[in-house]
Amino acid sequence: MTRLQGKVMVTGGAGYIGSHAVLALLDAGYDVVVLDNLVTGFDWAVDPRAALVVADVADDARVRAALREHGVRAIMHFAGSVVVPESVSDPLKYYRNNTAASRALIESAVAEGVPHFIFSSTAATYGTPAKVPVAEGDPTVPINPYGMSKLMTEAMLRDVAAAHPLNYAALRYFNVAGADPQARSGQSTVGATHLIKIAVEAATGKRDAVGIYGTDFDTPDGTGVRDYIHVSDLAAAHVAALALLIGEPTRSHTLNAGYGRGFSVLEVLDAVDRVTNHVIERRLEGRRAGDPAELVADNAAILRTLDWRPERDDLDGIVRDALAWERKLAEMGR
Ligand code: UFG
Repeated sequence: MTRLQGKVMVTGGAGYIGSHAVLALLDAGYDVVVLDNLVTGFDWAVDPRAALVVADVADDARVRAALREHGVRAIMHFAGSVVVPESVSDPLKYYRNNTAASRALIESAVAEGVPHFIFSSTAATYGTPAKVPVAEGDPTVPINPYGMSKLMTEAMLRDVAAAHPLNYAALRYFNVAGADPQARSGQSTVGATHLIKIAVEAATGKRDAVGIYGTDFDTPDGTGVRDYIHVSDLAAAHVAALALLIGEPTRSHTLNAGYGRGFSVLEVLDAVDRVTNHVIERRLEGRRAGDPAELVADNAAILRTLDWRPERDDLDGIVRDALAWERKLAEMGR
C-alpha cells in the first residue's frame, strides 16, 4: 500500500462526512489530525486515535502551526457550511465559510509545502443539469450560492496546482446518507435538512412527519430524484483518492462521487417504511428554493480512475445504518 511520510489533516473531522473519513483513514493505517472549530461538529465524534486541534480553517497561525507540529503531508478539507436554502438567504456566510476559508487553507498548505489536497465538492456545482446522468465535463452553472462557493474553490485549486507543487482531488458528492455500519459515527447534525436523516428522525419519534418538497417535478412520480451514496463508501473513495495523489503527484482529478442511479423522495420514504416496519406520516408541501428535479452521477470517471468500488449501493441498507445511528443518538440522549 502507498503510505504517506506524515499525517493527514482532516478539516471538519468532527462533522458528519469528515468523521467517517477519519475512521476510514485510521482503519487504513494513516495517522490523522483533525482540525475543527466545533461549531457544527462534536468532539465526541472524533475517534480517539486521531489528534484534535480545535481551530478555524481560516485561522492561518493556528493552521500553519498544526501543519508543522503534526508533519502534515495531505489535507482532506470537509469543513464548511452545507445547507442549500441557507446559502440562498445568507450567501455571504457561504462565501466566507466555504470560499474564503478554503482560500486561506490552500494558502497555508502551499506555505507549509503540503503536497496533496482532497476537497469536498458537490453536485450542486452543476446546478440544473441539461442531461442526467451528469458528467464532470458537463457545464457547471450553480443555481445557489452553496454550489457557487464550492465551484470557486475548485477553480482556486486548479490554478494553485498549476502554479505550485500540490496536486488535488475534488470529489463532487451527490447525496450522502447512512452511517458507519459499526455505528461508530453517523449524522448527528442538529436541525438537519437532509431527507434520509429527517425520515429516520421521524421514525424514531423526534419528528411527527416528513414534508415532501414538491410533487410536480418532471420525474416519474413528480418528486425529486437524487443519487444517494453511503457515507462509508464515500469515505473509502477519499482514501483511494489520497493513494492516487501520492502515487501520481503531478496529476489532479475532479470526480463525481455517486452510484449512478436515482431514487425519488417517495421511493426513499417507502424504503424507510420498509426498514422500520412503520408508516411515517407524509405531508405534501411546496417546492424548496434551489432544488433541481433530478441529480444523478455519471460515475464512469471515478470507477475508471480510483481503486474503489461501491460496496453499499443498497437504499435499504443506507436507511438501516442511518436508523441504527439515530437510535444510538437517542440512547446517548442527543
Ligand atoms: N426533501 C423532501 N423533504 C425533506 C427534505 C428533502 O422532500 O424534508 C427532498 C428534496 O426536495 C430533494 C431530496 O429530498 O428532492 C433530497 O434533499 P436533501 O435536502 O436531502 O438533499 P439535496 O439534494 O437538497 O442536497 C444535496 C446535498 C447538498 C448538495 C445538493 C445538490 O446535501 O450538499 O444535494 O443539489 F448541494
